[in-house]
Amino acid sequence: MRSTRWKAASRAALALAGAGALAASMALFATAPASAGTTLGASAAEKGRYFGTAVAGFKLSDSAYTTILNREFNMVTAENEMKMNATEPQQNQFSYGAADQIVNHARSRGMSVRGHTLAWHSQQPGWMESMSGSALRQAMLNHVTQVATHFRGQVVAWDVVNEAFADGSSGGRRDSNLQRTGNDWIEAAFRAARAADPGAKLCYNDYNTDNWTHAKTQGVYNMVRDFKARGVPIDCVGFQSHFNNDSPYVSNYRTTLSSFAALGVDVQITELDIQGASASTYRSVVEDCLAVARCNGITVWGIRDSDSWRASQTPLLFNSNGSKKAAYDAVLAALNNGTTPTDPPTDPPTDPPTTPPPGTGGCTATVSVNQWNGGFVANVRVTAGSSALNGWTVSIGLPSGATVTNAWSANRSGNTGTTNWTNVAYNGQVGAGQSTEFGFQANGTAGSLSPTCSAG
Ligand code: XIL
Repeated sequence: MRSTRWKAASRAALALAGAGALAASMALFATAPASAGTTLGASAAEKGRYFGTAVAGFKLSDSAYTTILNREFNMVTAENEMKMNATEPQQNQFSYGAADQIVNHARSRGMSVRGHTLAWHSQQPGWMESMSGSALRQAMLNHVTQVATHFRGQVVAWDVVNEAFADGSSGGRRDSNLQRTGNDWIEAAFRAARAADPGAKLCYNDYNTDNWTHAKTQGVYNMVRDFKARGVPIDCVGFQSHFNNDSPYVSNYRTTLSSFAALGVDVQITELDIQGASASTYRSVVEDCLAVARCNGITVWGIRDSDSWRASQTPLLFNSNGSKKAAYDAVLAALNNGTTPTDPPTDPPTDPPTTPPPGTGGCTATVSVNQWNGGFVANVRVTAGSSALNGWTVSIGLPSGATVTNAWSANRSGNTGTTNWTNVAYNGQVGAGQSTEFGFQANGTAGSLSPTCSAG
């Protein structure tokens, strides 16, 4: 576990995604506090977090709107402009103007951007809605690749997949045209996003996943645990947290956040609004995030009540006239009172693993490389031999000129020449014949890599 403070700092432009470099990558998410303690963004940054809002591009010409946006927030999510119907309105014709306008507004003022969203059953362009099967799978992967490539280096995190789980008691996937392309569509989207933008943190995002006892929450939790065990590149989970009378805030929310964090992912509150905007509920949400070291930011879904997709619920922090509501004061106070996250984090572990003895049947490692001009991503698959692994080490010799810049799902020693990679906490135990994966990004040319694997 690493510190998860998303601190004020300007570091290298490329986020270092993945378990081996989380602490460094956090630095990208919050801008320096210009007026600590008096605005949401500055107060959150003092706690190593960010405070963001959804932004509607057409409102950037409203000065009352931009005055609050520019003063209070240090993270921005495009409310609709990065969705599939906005960015690929006709197949293979990409349209980035509205999204670029939001990104430029944010980044030129020192705010960061969350990308929302690469793959979703909703707000698909018409041509995609009527597709199915392998044609749809390919179109989806092409969309993920093209859009993540366009915004590479400008978006600190992507909601790679949005809302893929069903409501109700099943705990399973939501039916959709994407789901019908095969259950592995989500991991395929994550792998494509990692290859296209290795520096962005990759999140799964959903709603009604706040209550720890709900089947939907458990379904998402089990998917994330499985992804981490198998080396699917996932870095974070977004909790939309649209709280209302049908889906209220519950006191086990903190347990939900900390339980996901204990899987080795960051957690973020991505679309917060609360029907009626109870000050005490807003305060509880902020306190819950601050209590979880890996909860690194909160985004509200709009600025003024009149900006809300659920305006009649008056769920936001500012009145329609732009004045601060009691909920604003409660959020600011909670941010200023909050403690700084500890390192190592104090999140309670869930499901302590049983520890088998080291395997004696050895292991093998294979690598697949995605090379581009001047750099590459390598995905390494570790497969246990005839007995289960309890820890593994992979050695990979890199050709001269190749330098590792970024890695995920393994600990590393060395970044040139001979590099050695060992399991992290959640992927050391691999059943006989089973596999897990880790990966890294490097400058230079991979050539042909020949990894060797040893157990223990
Ligand atoms: C909403 C927008 O706020 C509306 O403007 C739009 O008409 C529909 O989508 N979950 C999500 C968001 O992930 O993208 C949704 O945003 C709200 C629910």
